[in-house]
Order: sequence, then structure tokens, then C-alpha cells
Amino acid sequence: MKKVLLAVSVAALAHTAQAATLNLYCSAQEDWCQLMSKTFEEKTGINVKMQRKSSGETFAQIRAESANPKGDVWWGGTGDPHLQAAEEKLTAPYVSPMRGELQDWAISQAKSAGDRTIGIYSGALGYGYNADLLKKNNLPAPSCWKDLLKPEFKGHVQIANPNSSGTAYTTLATMMQLFGEGGGFDYMKGLHKNVNQYTKSGSAPIKASARGESTVGIVFMHDAVKQAVSGFPIKVVAPCEGTGYEIGSMSIIDGARNMDSAKKFYDWALSADAQSLALQVKAFQVPSNKGSKTSPSAPNLASIKLIDYDFKKYGSSAERKRLLKKWDDDVSTLPQ
Ligand code: F6P
Repeated sequence: MKKVLLAVSVAALAHTAQAATLNLYCSAQEDWCQLMSKTFEEKTGINVKMQRKSSGETFAQIRAESANPKGDVWWGGTGDPHLQAAEEKLTAPYVSPMRGELQDWAISQAKSAGDRTIGIYSGALGYGYNADLLKKNNLPAPSCWKDLLKPEFKGHVQIANPNSSGTAYTTLATMMQLFGEGGGFDYMKGLHKNVNQYTKSGSAPIKASARGESTVGIVFMHDAVKQAVSGFPIKVVAPCEGTGYEIGSMSIIDGARNMDSAKKFYDWALSADAQSLALQVKAFQVPSNKGSKTSPSAPNLASIKLIDYDFKKYGSSAERKRLLKKWDDDVSTLPQ
């Protein structure tokens, strides 16, 4: 009898241990993903298995796994692919009790997606350049998007591939909105002539600039600020024509195997305490919880000329697919 009871309780324990797991797909910076995972694990005892991939890559993975989902929560990354995932019902609706603490833009993101995603931070697109390399190469200081098309910038500009990276897709969609479809694609074609490498991750170009391997990196401004405050000779630019922005988002994956853990993480990730962790890793996005700590180093969105970014259109499945295909066909194949 004793043996049977022991076997039952061991089985019960094993079940509990198995249930207390969270498979986290993370599309923010690696150091931030690790800090979020570690802190949540310490607070709850839930074992977090984290994978860091860029926004477009994570979207593609969730879609590929949809018949047999392996992830529970997708935290971070630009909002457009989260919206596309919501439209394709790859993510699950959830209304967190934390909503009352959030900025309106975070809740609008949720409402426009039938509660299948929510805003966790926002940030403006721009670029940064290595001031030492600029001087060494006798290049004029750029201040506008169009400056990056100048022939003297050939080989000096780096940006990610918009298929894998949410940053680069935001750039593509921003050019459509600033210059119209024809003008926007002309811009991307002109830029292509000056690009030295299309990276997988959105923030890689500014890390390359910080290391002195490339002059200009097209990135979210907060990613450029991170390098500048870390002591690298990076100047941050809010382009003169105006610029787009992201609503970095979080979604629960439809069919998540660890739904309780997923909801616990989701609620915690919306809290002021969790969002204030960002400052420990110099992540200077604008947090969605109104009570989170912010830094004076963070770009001030109110002083940047932001476009009225059309998230509904550029986060729609048909438009994102169409623009990426057109970029693949008409831009990436051009000789440089
Ligand atoms: O964490 C930095 C960051 O720029 C986020 O603000 C953004 O959501 C994410 O990275 C985008 O990364 P990627 O372009 O690699 O998808």
C-alpha cells in the first residue's frame, strides 16, 4: 500500500514539475530576454525555456509549428508580425487584469487584434552612425533618410533583412508611408546600392557600427542610444522627413501547452516592476505600464516627427506578405 501511495505521489510531483514550465519565444535583445526569463523563474519557480529570434523569424516559426505548438508566449518584437499572427489566429485571446495600468496605445493594439496581442513598449525608428568612421571617410553628417542614398555612402550602410527582422520591415513600411509605394520602393532600391550587408537581427547593424565595422546602422533609435551610452562613438539620428515607430508586443500562442504559466508570465510582464527591468540592460523603449521607470537617456518620442503609422494596414497578413515579396523580387535581387 505504502509503495502504491509513494508511486502516486511521485507521479503527481512529476506532473507538477512538468506543468511548471514556460516556453518563451523572445524577440527583444538577448540580454533583456535573459533577464526577463531569469527574474520570472526566480519569482515563480516556473522553469523558463527561452529562445531568442527576430520578429519575422519567430512569426514564421509559430506558423510552421501551428499544428503542434511548442511555444507558450511570444514576448517582444515589433507589433506588425504579432498583428499578422493574431489575424491568422496563431495566437490566443486573453484579457489581463493588468490592463488598467497600461498606456492607451498598448490597449488599442490589443483591441485591434481581438485581444490576441498587447503593447509592451514603443520606440521610434531612425539610424545611428559611428562619428569616428564618418570623419575618417570624409562623409557629411547625415540627418535625413535621403542622405543615406548619396553615392559617397556606398558600402557604408547596414540594415537587416525585412523578412527576418521587424526593424527592417518597419523601415520598409515607413518608406511606403513617407514616400508612397513607388517612391518608397525607389528609396529601398537606392538604399540597396549603399548597403554593405543585410543582417538577420534588427539591432546587429548598430552593433557593427559601434565596433567600427560599418558606418551607419538603420535601427530603432533606442538601440542606437544603448551603444552611445555604453561609450561607443555613436550619434543617433531622428530623420528630418519624419519616421515610423513600433508598438513592441506580446502574445500567447494558440494551443499553448502551459497556459497557466503563460498567463502568469503575461500578467507579470505587464507590471511596472517587470517593465522597469529594461533599464538594467539599457533597453530604452517607452514602457507600456504607466508606472514603469524610464531613463533620461531614452529618446523622447514627443520631440520626434512621427508619422501616423498605419498598424492595421502594415500589420495585415496580405500587406506584409505582399510587401516582403515585392522587396525580395524587386530590391534584393538588384546588383549593388
Ligand atoms: O529589443 C530591441 C528591438 O529593437 C525591439 O525594440 C524590437 O521590437 C526588436 O528589437 C526587433 O528586433 P528584430 O528587428 O530583430 O525583429
